[in-house]
Amino acid sequence: MLQKIATLLSEVAQLSASNEQELEALRVKYLSKKGLLNDLMAEFRNVPSDQKREVGMRINELKTALQEKLAELRLNIATTDEDLTDVDLTRTPYPVKLGTRHPLSIVKHEILDIFARLGFAMAEGPEVEDDWHVFGSMNFADDHPARDMQDTFFIEAHPDVILRTHTSSIESRVMENTQPPIRVICPGRVYRNEAISARAHCFFHQVEGLYVDKDVSFTDLKQVLLTFAQEMFGAETKIRLRPSYFPFTEPSAEMDISCNICGGKGCSFCKHTGWVEILGCGMTDPNVLEACGIDSKVYKGYAFGMGVERITNLKYQVKDLRLFSENDVRFLENFMSAN
Ligand code: DAH
Repeated sequence: MLQKIATLLSEVAQLSASNEQELEALRVKYLSKKGLLNDLMAEFRNVPSDQKREVGMRINELKTALQEKLAELRLNIATTDEDLTDVDLTRTPYPVKLGTRHPLSIVKHEILDIFARLGFAMAEGPEVEDDWHVFGSMNFADDHPARDMQDTFFIEAHPDVILRTHTSSIESRVMENTQPPIRVICPGRVYRNEAISARAHCFFHQVEGLYVDKDVSFTDLKQVLLTFAQEMFGAETKIRLRPSYFPFTEPSAEMDISCNICGGKGCSFCKHTGWVEILGCGMTDPNVLEACGIDSKVYKGYAFGMGVERITNLKYQVKDLRLFSENDVRFLENFMSAN
């Protein structure tokens, strides 16, 4: 038996394997259940007891030698596989799927960029708000229909805590904490209690603008909005302002742009009028300035608010609002090149 072990030991020293299959064959031959090492173990039972100690030590020696040899061969195969001489190191290791920015983020950033160039700083505020910042300070009468449960999400146990219905609430937070001149642009998500459909959702996004200083005029507002429209939709874009009503501005207006889908000729998107409404605006009501701690005899302001989904639809003609919140990559991938 000792002779047999010695022969095997010298055999082990000579072993070689050039790939995984050969290595596995060696493992099976020597170390598996039916391998030679187990055969020796079986024979070991018949070794006379005075020789058991020595034979046992030799078998252990053989086992260690086998394990070390196979480990060494495995290492060699691994490094041979990694032989890089024929490999194109510039190739990507696997197809890397790049993500895309969400279309609403792309458009939001475009809007913020345009206003940043006009000197507007960015400001944000909480989505979970109180009645004062959303309605009270914004000159909404106590019985104004927008305060109705049908429009606003309330928290049952705390009627004063609501989800903001517009980003105008950020205006009042900024004015409370800053003395004029103030020139801010405020993006954010807003919530309204609407049934979800292709044309309405219970949350959407707005960007609010506010300018408060001495001698601010409606002309300033109009020029800033014209610049914005032409930067966003092209130099040929026209604007028109229609009188409107908002509690927080006086006078108030809604702004249309010439439909950038049909170029103003009339199409189904602009309902064949050639114009599409994109925002509300006006001169900040003195009541709002006073409610936020700003002297309305010294300062004036203008404000405007627009929906990011609406602007995105105009740019990319997304037909169904629900697509914006479904995270379907087949939709999102369309905006890969817009990043
Ligand atoms: N807060 C209005 C809305 O949600 C939009 C708006 C209109 C904002 C006129 C303004 C504004 O700042 O002056 O519909």
